[in-house]
Amino acid sequence: MYGFVWNHEVRRLFSQRAMRVVWVVAMIGGLGAFVSFVDPDHHLHQPHRILVDTDVDTDDVFALFYLLKQDRTQFHLQGITINANGWSDAGHAINHVYDILFMMDRDDIPVGVGGEGGILANGTILPNVGGYQPIIDQEMSTAGECRYRQAIPVARRGRLDVNSNYGLRKAFLPQGSRRYTPLQQPTAQEVMKDAISSGPTTVFLLGAHTNFAIFLMSNPDLKKNVKHIYVMGGSVRSNCPKNDSSDNSGECPNIGNLYPQDSNPYAEFNIFSDPFAAYKVFHSGIPVTLVPLDATNTIPLSRSFFTEFERRQDTYEAKYCFQALKIIRDTWLSDVFHEQYCMWDSFLVGVALSIMRNSSNGENEFAEMQYINISVVTSNEPYGISDGSNPLITGNSMPKFKVDKNGVHSGHVQMGMQDRFCLQKGKGKCQDGYTKEDTGEDAVRVLAAMKAKSNHENGSSLQKEFYKSFLRVINSPEKTGRFDIRKQYLFHREVLHKPDFGKKMSGKPVVFDMDMSAGDFLALLYLLKLPVEQINLKGILICSTGWATSATIDVVYDILHMMGRDDIPVGLGKAFAVGQANPAFSAIGDCKYSKAIPHGSGGYLDSDTLYGLARDLPRSPRRYTAENSVKFGASRDTDHPELRQPSALDVWKSIVDSLDAGSKITLLMNGPLTNLAEIILSENASSMIQVNNVKMPRPNDDTVYLCLLMQGVYIVGGHIAYVNDNGKGNLFTVPSNEYAEFNMFLDPLAAKEVFTSSLDITLVPLQMQRRVSSFSSILNRMNLTALTPEALFVQRLLSRLWQLEQEHYRYHHMDIFLGEILGAVVLAANPHLNQTFRLKPLKVLADGDITNIGEIIIDKEQGKQVLVLENVNPQAYYDHFARVLGDHRQSAVLGSFHEQERMWNSPAAKTNICCLHLDELIQTDQYMEKHLIVNLADLV
Ligand SMILES: *[C@@H]1O[C@H](CO)[C@@H](O)[C@H](O)[C@H]1NC(C)=O
Ligand SMILES: *[C@@H]1O[C@H](CO)[C@@H](O)[C@H](O)[C@H]1NC(C)=O
Ligand SMILES: *[C@@H]1O[C@H](CO)[C@@H](O)[C@H](O)[C@H]1NC(C)=O
Ligand SMILES: *[C@@H]1O[C@H](CO)[C@@H](O)[C@H](O)[C@H]1NC(C)=O
Ligand SMILES: *[C@@H]1O[C@H](CO)[C@@H](O)[C@H](O)[C@H]1NC(C)=O
Ligand SMILES: *[C@@H]1O[C@H](CO)[C@@H](O)[C@H](O)[C@H]1NC(C)=O
Repeated sequence: MYGFVWNHEVRRLFSQRAMRVVWVVAMIGGLGAFVSFVDPDHHLHQPHRILVDTDVDTDDVFALFYLLKQDRTQFHLQGITINANGWSDAGHAINHVYDILFMMDRDDIPVGVGGEGGILANGTILPNVGGYQPIIDQEMSTAGECRYRQAIPVARRGRLDVNSNYGLRKAFLPQGSRRYTPLQQPTAQEVMKDAISSGPTTVFLLGAHTNFAIFLMSNPDLKKNVKHIYVMGGSVRSNCPKNDSSDNSGECPNIGNLYPQDSNPYAEFNIFSDPFAAYKVFHSGIPVTLVPLDATNTIPLSRSFFTEFERRQDTYEAKYCFQALKIIRDTWLSDVFHEQYCMWDSFLVGVALSIMRNSSNGENEFAEMQYINISVVTSNEPYGISDGSNPLITGNSMPKFKVDKNGVHSGHVQMGMQDRFCLQKGKGKCQDGYTKEDTGEDAVRVLAAMKAKSNHENGSSLQKEFYKSFLRVINSPEKTGRFDIRKQYLFHREVLHKPDFGKKMSGKPVVFDMDMSAGDFLALLYLLKLPVEQINLKGILICSTGWATSATIDVVYDILHMMGRDDIPVGLGKAFAVGQANPAFSAIGDCKYSKAIPHGSGGYLDSDTLYGLARDLPRSPRRYTAENSVKFGASRDTDHPELRQPSALDVWKSIVDSLDAGSKITLLMNGPLTNLAEIILSENASSMIQVNNVKMPRPNDDTVYLCLLMQGVYIVGGHIAYVNDNGKGNLFTVPSNEYAEFNMFLDPLAAKEVFTSSLDITLVPLQMQRRVSSFSSILNRMNLTALTPEALFVQRLLSRLWQLEQEHYRYHHMDIFLGEILGAVVLAANPHLNQTFRLKPLKVLADGDITNIGEIIIDKEQGKQVLVLENVNPQAYYDHFARVLGDHRQSAVLGSFHEQERMWNSPAAKTNICCLHLDELIQTDQYMEKHLIVNLADLV
C-alpha cells in the first residue's frame, strides 16, 4: 500500500513541472531512509549514483535493462538523458524510454530530452541546449546541417527501425502515463544538472557526447561531482570482428565502422556524431574508461550466444531483447550478422559495473584492460588553414570557445559523407572522430578495454564471460518487468475495424498523400468524416521527406483505427528527396532541404508525438514492422513476411489495379511531392500499362497514361512569388530564401517533375491557406459543434497548437499547419464556400540556388497551366469544417486510448467480435475482405 501511494504521488508530482525540484529532494530522502533500513552501515555502502546518456539504439536498450536489473542499493540510476543527434529521433526515443521504465516499474527515474537553448556566435552557451546539433554547428535554432548525422541511415536499418524497435515496440511494450508534453518535458541539461548536483555521480555515455560536453562546458563548478566517465565509443587500433572460434585471426584494414568508408575509415559512430564534444569530455580531466570497437569486436553476437538466448527468455525484458535481435539478424544485409553485430553498450555497462563493484584499479570480470594515451581527432591537417569547413574558425574574428587558431581544432572539418576533401579511392582520408593513439602533449590517458575475457568455465557453449552474465541478469526473476501490452490488461485483444457502408454508392476515389504534420492529421480526420457517397478514401501515402519522421506512420494507423477504418491501406514513401540519397549507399543521404525543419519544439519532436497527443489515440493492431520477404527484395524471409509494411508505390499500384471501370483517382498532396514524382517516374518506366484491368501498350506520350488513371491532383502548398500583396514565403529557418513555401522547398526536383507533367493540377497556395488560419475563429466554431470523439480530439489539438503559438517563440509558425486543412476542404467542393479558381502558367524553381529553390513563378512561355485557388469564404469554411467533424455519422469506433483500456479490462461483449493476434494479422485488402470484421454495431 505504501508503495502504491508513493508511486501515485510521484506520478502526480512528475506531471507538475514546477514541483520537480521538490520531488527530486523527496526521492533522495526516501531512498536514504530505505538504505539505512536494510543496512545500518549505509554510509559505507552508498549506492553508486549513475547517470546514463543514450541514443536509445537497440543495444542501448539491452544496456539499460542490464542496469535496471541491478541491486538498487548498490547501483542507483539517477536519470536518463537522450542524445538527440544519434540513432533515434527524439520524440520516438523519449516515449520508448518511458515505456521501458513503466514496464520495469521505474516511473521514478527522470528522463530528459532536448531543450531550446542555443550557442551564441561568441561561444556563450545558453541554458538548455537541446543537443540536436553537434557543438560546432549549434547555433540558435534546432534546425541545421547534418555533416555527421548523415552517416546514419534514416529509414530501414536506421532511425525508422530504431525508433520503432523494428516494429516490436508498439507490439510489445506496455503504455503508462508518462509521455512527452511540449514545454513541460524536462530537458537533457536539466536532468543532468539535477542528478549531478545532488551528489557524486558516475556517467555512462552510450551515444554521442553532445549533451554531456555541453553540460561540462556550462557547469564547470559541477565537474567535481562527476566521479568517473564510462564511454562506449571510438576505435583505437586496427581490429576486426572475430568469429567464436578464431580469437586471433588477422588484422582488418579499417579501424572505424562508418559505411561507406571512402571518406573516413577511422571513426566509430558515437564519437563521429560529435568529435568536438568527445574531445571536451576526454580532455575534461575527469577519469575516463573507454570501451572501444577494439574490445567490442571481440564479443560479437555469436551463433552459440544467440542460440542460448533463444532458449532462455524467462522475463519480459529478455523476450523484448531477443525478439529485437532476431529481427535484426533476419533483416541483416549480409550473411555475417553473427560476426558483425557486437555487444556494444551492454558490454560497456557490464564492464563498468564490474569495475565499480571491484573498486580500485579497473580490474573486472569481463574485459582485459590497458592504459593508453589517446586524443580525439576533431579536424584534419594541415591546421590553421581556413577553407570554410570549420565553424570554430570561419567567419569569427576570435575562434569560438577560445580554441587555438593553429591548433588541433583548426583544420578541415569533415562536411559530410561525400566531402571531396575526404574522399579518396580505396581508403578515405579524413579522421574526424578517430580516437587516435597519441604520445604527444595533447594526449590523455584513458583506461581502455582491449578484449573480452573468455568464459573461465571450460566446456561452456558461451565463449565469453560477459555472454554468461548478460543472460543471467536479463533472465533474472529479480526486478523484472511487470508485463507487456498483452498482459497489462486482462482482456487485451487486437481487433481490426472495417466499416459497413451497406448499399451506399461510393463516391470519388481519393488517395491522400501526407507528411504527417499536425495539419495533415486534421485534414485526414476531415476526409474520413466526409460521407463515403461523396469521397471514398482509397489509400494513404506517407511522405517521409516533410515534417515528421517515418516511424510516425504508427500515428496514422492509430487514427484510422480510432475511426474504424483499418481497411484503408497505408504506404510508406522514400526517405530522401529526389537526388539526396548517397549514390554509393542509398540508406544514407544529405539534408540539403530537410535541414530547414527544426528537430526540437515545433519540429520533428512535436510532429512525431502529435504535440504530445498521439498517445491519447487508441493503439491500432496495424503498425510499422521491419518484417519482410524475398518476394519484395529483402535479403531473406523473416518470420512473418506477410506483415510487411507496404511502400507508397505498392499501395498506389494496388489501388490502380482495383479501380472500377471508368473511375479515376483524385490525389490530394499535403506534403512535399516526393511520392507523386516517384509514381510518375515509375509509370514512365514500364512499357505495358493497365487501365481498368486491361493491359495495353503504353501510349507514346508518357504522362497521358497517368491522366487516364487520375482525375487530377490537388496540391497544398507553393507560393507564387512577386505577385502584388502575396507576401513572403514561409521558410522561417532559411532566411536567405524569401519566397519559397516548405512543401516545394523540401523536394524541389520532385515538384519540378510534377509541374512539368501533363497532370491536371489544382494548387492551394500559401496565400490562400493564410486566409483560413485563424485559430480563434476555427476554435470558436468547434466550440459550437457536437462533441464527437474526433471533434474533441481536433479541438484539443487545435487548442494546444494555439496555446503553444502564444506561449513560446519556437511555435510562432503553428498557423502553417492550420492552413493545411484547406486542400481537403477544397477537394470536397462544398458550394457554400464560394471557391473560385484561375488558370495560371506556373513554374517551380529547382536549379540548386538555395535563395530561390522551391519558389513558384509565373512564366508565360515555359509555365504549366495550373488551376490556382483564388478565393474562399473563410467563415463558411470554418463552419463547414466544424459541422463535418461534429456529424455523428462515420464517427469514431473507439474514442481514445482510455476507452480502449476500459475495453481491455472487460471481457468481449459479443463472441462474434473477432480477435486477432499479431501473427494472424495481415495488412492486405483481401485479408480484410475474407476475415472481417467488426462493424460499428457490434461494438456498441
Ligand atoms: C557574448 O555575446 C553576448 C551577446 O552579444 C554578450 O552578452 C556576452 O557578454 C558575450 N560573451 C562574451 C564572453 O564575450
Ligand atoms: C567466420 O566463420 C565462418 C564460418 O565458420 C566463415 O565463413 C567466415 O569467413 C568467418 N569470418 C571471419 C571474419 O573469420
Ligand atoms: C577484483 O578483480 C580481480 C581480478 O578480476 C579479482 O581477482 C578480485 O577478486 C576482485 N575483487 C573483488 C573485491 O571482487
Ligand atoms: C601517457 O600520458 C601520461 C601522462 O598523462 C604519461 O605519464 C605517460 O608516459 C604516457 N604514456 C605513453 C605511453 O606515452
Ligand atoms: C470554448 O469554450 C470554452 C468553454 O465553454 C471556453 O473556455 C473557450 O474560451 C472557448 N473557446 C473559444 C475559442 O471560444
Ligand atoms: C457566395 O456566392 C453567392 C452566389 O454566387 C453569393 O450570393 C454570395 O454573396 C457569396 N458570398 C460570399 C461571402 O462571397
